[in-house]
Amino acid sequence: MVSQQLIYAAAVPVSVVLAIGLIRRWRSRKWAKCLSNTCLRGKTFLITGANSGIGLETAKGLVRRKGRVIFACRDIAKAKQAITQIRAAQPTGGELIPMQLDLASFESIENFVEVIKAGFYKIDVLINNAGVAIPLKKALKTKEGFEIHFGVNHLGHFYLTNLLLDHLKKAAPSRIVIVSSTLHEQGKIDFDDLNLKKDTELAVQGKLKGRHNPAYNNSKLMNAYFGRALADRLKDYGVDVYNCCPGFCYTNLFRDSIRWYHYILMAPVFLMFMRTAKQGSETVVFCASDYSVEGISGRFYRDCAEYSSKYQFNKEVEEKLWQVSEELVKARRPL
Ligand SMILES: NC(=O)c1ccc[n+]([C@@H]2O[C@H](COP(=O)([O-])OP(=O)(O)OC[C@H]3O[C@@H](n4cnc5c(N)ncnc54)[C@H](OP(=O)(O)O)[C@@H]3O)[C@@H](O)[C@H]2O)c1
Repeated sequence: MVSQQLIYAAAVPVSVVLAIGLIRRWRSRKWAKCLSNTCLRGKTFLITGANSGIGLETAKGLVRRKGRVIFACRDIAKAKQAITQIRAAQPTGGELIPMQLDLASFESIENFVEVIKAGFYKIDVLINNAGVAIPLKKALKTKEGFEIHFGVNHLGHFYLTNLLLDHLKKAAPSRIVIVSSTLHEQGKIDFDDLNLKKDTELAVQGKLKGRHNPAYNNSKLMNAYFGRALADRLKDYGVDVYNCCPGFCYTNLFRDSIRWYHYILMAPVFLMFMRTAKQGSETVVFCASDYSVEGISGRFYRDCAEYSSKYQFNKEVEEKLWQVSEELVKARRPL
């Protein structure tokens, strides 16, 4: 009798776990894999934020194929730690180079580019991967005073990329991969409030409505606009530009917004919908290395295939964002 009750009691959680496992398996079949396996010896890849999450898995994928990878990381100790870990697992992979880069500081970006130009003749693939998603109520800013998502996710990469263009042109056919997100579809660009002062004030007062972080979504929309504008400007230089979304992945990105108990409460949803960082990196590796997309520039990718955004892009906004970004970098402060 007792054992029958035990069987019934165990049946419910076991069935739930089984059902979640099956749904995850079914969903993950749609999460594409980069099948490209060509040797990348002789190619130099520069990945921002390569010490963690999707950047780290992207680095592993490229190093496995003998690519040389520059780890452009905010914390050099974390870059070295990641490299030690990869080298232990892949002793015969490509070269791994740790370098310090803080995208929240123009001075750090300039110092980084100076070292790159002194040490490398060309860069074959630049992967703008680093990113932050920090609750707006923290009101964080970059060294120059830009709102942190606008400053790091967009402006820092805008400046870095422009400073590296000559090195990318020297490597043509070369590539720039911009890790955006399909959340760009929920972004807005308000040129009167690029630093989101209004929303930040509301967030600090606890009055900001909505589930998503508008500053993050806006910065991912700026990534998408930047990719399109770059593709236009680089079309005669053999430098292809790819925007991509890795999908919803379990990484450190949400360290400030998702608490441990959220993971417990939302575990079934996360287990069904969240990819591993490795699964997320597949589309990034695809954009960085697959020959089938060579010469196709300015498109958005998800699951190793072209993705048609629901967002209505506007050429005037694209141009204005480029001009305003240039002015802000020159001014070195919010205007
Ligand atoms: N995870 C997702 O579900 C998801 C979905 C769509 C798009 N994405 C995009 O994927 C990219 C990678 O994110 P992830 O999920 O892999 O997150 P992650 O594990 O937190 O990695 C982010 C990386 O960016 C670095 N970074 C942050 N601020 C920086 C700065 N000021 N200067 C230089 N590096 C900085 C981090 O360095 P530290 O380790 O020192 O903090 C870390 O290496 C981001 O652009 C994100 O928007 C992620």
